[in-house]
Amino acid sequence: MCGIVGYIGKDAIKDILVDGLRELEYRGYDSAGIAILEEDEIQSFKAIGKLKNLEEKTKDFSTHHFGLGIGHTRWATHGKPTELNAHPHLGEFSYVVHNGIIENYQELKKELQASGVHFLSQTDTEVIVHLFEKNYKEINDPMAAFEKTVETLEGAYAILLITKADPQKIYFAKNGSPMIVGNDAKGDIYFGSSDAALIGKATEVIYLADGDYGYTSADGIFLYHDKEKKGLNKKPLIGDKVSAQKNGHRFFMEKEIYEQSEVLGDTIMGRVLDDQIKFDELDANFFDGISEIKICACGTSYNSGLACSYLFERQAKIKSSVEIASEFRYKEPLMSKDTLFVVISQSGETADTLEALKMAKKAGLKTLAICNVDNSSIVRLSDYTLLTRAGIEKGVASTKAFATQVMVMWMLSLYIAQHKKTISEKALQDEIDAIRHIPTTVMVEDALHEKIKRLSKRYLHGHGFFFIGRDLFFPLALEGALKLKEISYLHAEGYPAGEMKHGPIALADSELFTIALMPKNVHYDKIKSNVEELSARDSTILAISPLAFDLADDFIKTQHDNHPMSEFFEMMVITQILALEISVRLGNDVDMPRNLAKSVTVE
Ligand code: G6P
Repeated sequence: MCGIVGYIGKDAIKDILVDGLRELEYRGYDSAGIAILEEDEIQSFKAIGKLKNLEEKTKDFSTHHFGLGIGHTRWATHGKPTELNAHPHLGEFSYVVHNGIIENYQELKKELQASGVHFLSQTDTEVIVHLFEKNYKEINDPMAAFEKTVETLEGAYAILLITKADPQKIYFAKNGSPMIVGNDAKGDIYFGSSDAALIGKATEVIYLADGDYGYTSADGIFLYHDKEKKGLNKKPLIGDKVSAQKNGHRFFMEKEIYEQSEVLGDTIMGRVLDDQIKFDELDANFFDGISEIKICACGTSYNSGLACSYLFERQAKIKSSVEIASEFRYKEPLMSKDTLFVVISQSGETADTLEALKMAKKAGLKTLAICNVDNSSIVRLSDYTLLTRAGIEKGVASTKAFATQVMVMWMLSLYIAQHKKTISEKALQDEIDAIRHIPTTVMVEDALHEKIKRLSKRYLHGHGFFFIGRDLFFPLALEGALKLKEISYLHAEGYPAGEMKHGPIALADSELFTIALMPKNVHYDKIKSNVEELSARDSTILAISPLAFDLADDFIKTQHDNHPMSEFFEMMVITQILALEISVRLGNDVDMPRNLAKSVTVE
């Protein structure tokens, strides 16, 4: 996820910007850049890779007067991580940094190109600076030009812009992406896309609201909303850097669970239009000659792949199978060229997945990576990539990466369905409405978290957990069980509910915990009778469902039952929090569980 910093004052501007960016490193990035305006001159530096590369490039540069600067760490979404795609983006006399995604950038870009503007990068961000300069040339008033620019943008953004047309100011705007502005006792002004960049510098801050914009200068902060001047609601900035990085949460995993609403919004942005699914990353030939999909992955990514194989068959009417990469590698698999080979990986570096991908390439298959890290080995090797846009995931137990993988593949199943015409317009519209509802579905309400926290004390012992579900909810059961075992060290299995009677039910007694995923929209009566069978054998049942279930020992009522996938995502969050709270009660290291690694680059 990208990071933004800004500064106005007399101190060493470059050092302040780079320090701020360093505090945002935890968010993950693949390039960085700064632009500094001092005495009417703008200097800009960009480097791919780590911040030390930017520091090396700027080591002979320093400022000595009052000035201002903006900086950015970029996590690639549109275009590869190259210097040209790194921020700040340059117009003729202005620079911009931006977090978020400009949804209407393609139409704006076409209009600007038609009026003679030359673009250097593949990013959506670059339209902002050109649009501002075009407006400025027409209006000749920088603030009015900025206001008009912001009005034209659709999507999510946190923007800082500096311009030689008004060299004493930083212009800012926020909509959907976080942005904080603050000042110290001297009146120097600081910007950051997260608290972490401002701690130790600003003493009081304003958390900008969506739709806020304005400018800052040596005279202070000037804030506007809907063309009206707005009062400054300053708050003291307290806290330490590590808790700021965790956004006030106890663990990175908890932060990442809570972040799912935001990152799922990023995942769908620009890809879900009013009447169709669109992937800029896939060309018209993408699906030519394909009659089968094979998905290959490890761990959590395997579970998301399994879930989505149901969607591919159901929505896109295409034969789909899923393989664990470490098994696939050595089974002497038969591969045919009409198969699209899909690898799923958060890190893009998992050794077994990478090797399976190499085998598929060697066999001449068309390959697609669903991945969270651009420029990773898997992305570099694949013919096509869809980035999941989850931002860096620090908790070893994967949460938001899983959520975004499922989302990307749900959209992909609809994209293929569109192409193959296996879905009616009405059904597609219903799916699009459901996708747009998911960021709301995964928001964590305090009451829900509190309830799970209280329940968790009853699930600290026993001789095992069975997470059970049917259909799409079977892979979710696998993932729920995987989360729990990863961080609680308790034995947990995910099982297809209908299969329990073929063996595992022999384990049922009051010390066997059944976590039953009972969606209203997917075979409710079937799963209900499977749970009844376990209840009759005295298993302790925690039922998760929108429908009351009398035989449950414990019951978590879900709220979103308008679509199977809403139920899927809401239950996903519940199982994640359950695992987290059990782990906390057992005193385990939630973010770094024993024996596990975030990225497994060995076989
Ligand atoms: C490790 C991680 C898991 C992850 C798996 C696959 O085991 O601990 O959380 O699901 O690798 O990783 P990938 O980066 O390929 O998704």
